[in-house]
Amino acid sequence: MTSTARITVHPSFVRGHIDRRIFGSFVEHLGRAVYTGIYEPGHPTADADGFRGDVAELTRELGTTVVRYPGGNFVSNYIWEDGVGPRDDRPSRIDLAWRTIEPNEIGTDEFVAWTKKTGTEPMMAVNLGTRGAAEAAALVEYCNTSGGTTWSELRRRNGYDEPHAIRLWCLGNEMDGPWQIGHKTADDYGKIASQAAQAMRRVDPTIEFVACGSSSREMDTFGEWERVVLEHTFDDVDYISVHAYYQERDGDRQSFLASGASFEAFMHEVIATADAVAARRHSDKRIRLSVDEWNVWYIDNFAGEDNLELLEQPRLIEDVYSTIDAVVVGDLLGTLLRNADRVAIACLAQLVNVIAPIMTEPGGEAWRQTTFYPIALLAQHASGVALDARSDSPRLVTAKHGEVDAVSTVVTWNADAGELVVGLTNRSTEPVEVTIDHVGFVDASLSDARAIVADHEGPRHTAESARAAEPQPLDGVSVRDAATTLTVPAESWSFLRIAARA
Ligand code: AHR
Repeated sequence: MTSTARITVHPSFVRGHIDRRIFGSFVEHLGRAVYTGIYEPGHPTADADGFRGDVAELTRELGTTVVRYPGGNFVSNYIWEDGVGPRDDRPSRIDLAWRTIEPNEIGTDEFVAWTKKTGTEPMMAVNLGTRGAAEAAALVEYCNTSGGTTWSELRRRNGYDEPHAIRLWCLGNEMDGPWQIGHKTADDYGKIASQAAQAMRRVDPTIEFVACGSSSREMDTFGEWERVVLEHTFDDVDYISVHAYYQERDGDRQSFLASGASFEAFMHEVIATADAVAARRHSDKRIRLSVDEWNVWYIDNFAGEDNLELLEQPRLIEDVYSTIDAVVVGDLLGTLLRNADRVAIACLAQLVNVIAPIMTEPGGEAWRQTTFYPIALLAQHASGVALDARSDSPRLVTAKHGEVDAVSTVVTWNADAGELVVGLTNRSTEPVEVTIDHVGFVDASLSDARAIVADHEGPRHTAESARAAEPQPLDGVSVRDAATTLTVPAESWSFLRIAARA
């Protein structure tokens, strides 16, 4: 017998307003993310500044909003001054994070120019590994002060008369990780992050800060890192970061498909810790999450033996995805949206070539990986508010995450557009009949219904094979005023657009 799930939504069950920055991404100086990724002078689609037009176009299609830069681990030994000014004068250096040669052909100014071309917002990280508050404040002055000071006049001499007006700043990256150059204890990091934020804010009082949370749930010892960091930085920062990567291990598909449950639990743990710090201060300030690295990630070819030879653009962490990865990515993004009340920013790590939805060949084509499709659909259509969907789902027991809902759901409602968007992930090996009671909505009709089914094929290496993973029309969806009914295939991610009025 087919199992059933029942979901109830109402226009007044508002969980939170969707901050468009949830559809962010990440470009690090790592492997081929920058060089032969976003930038490749001489490529047939390159513009006058050397940026690949095909990658820019796919970035827009993906619906990317903010883009974090320049790292990642890279930022912890980055000297930003190397990357500004006349290109001929810029040094080549060994990047200590990835042991590659950094030519510094692209730096802050060029990256900001690229964000303007792609209609995205830069999110800048500062080096708190080998450097500190003074260099970070100097970078804010270089970027955001209109003129009349040493650093701002340097920017103007470099050809950028108008300030870059960068609003979002990350105070370092994964400073808890022993792999990080200059990694610190929570106490030491908390102090330097607070100091840097205060100095940077004196340069530009309008900017926002992200403090580093722990670099994964496994690294997070009962919220201790976040607690100590926030005890130091609570008054200085707006967001705390969450980083989370998932992968299928030992053929355990159900645990992998249930990654979103662990992701959500991790986010709730960090929120609870932030609120506990607030409570100890009798503060009603709510620190929100910047989930500034999330994705599916398998390959681990960046450290040690396979990277002994110093190269300029090595093929590092170029994961090739299959359909099950696309299903999980759809569920992870749905999980972020479902928590829109506390998730302000999220960056898929990363945008191009490095664990990315967009791949390129130097001198050749750019294409969409399987994971591109659910992100683009949600970024293009999920807007307005996330609704608190009451869900009664069959349960599934997984080896890694215990008992979870077999069907996970996200529902967004845009009252202006008159559209409900529904994402449904069926983590189980059987189809599930789903009823969505949309109480309080009238004139409901179906605009679109598609699904990605996780087949048992492996990674899709070519543009053509990845395109075969494009979401396919989902038949048998019945929309009436009071309810929508459908059957979600086993191991799938489904996407519905329902026109309605509230
Ligand atoms: O996204 C790749 C790497 O993963 C980032 O540089 C680092 O922050 C994380 O460990």
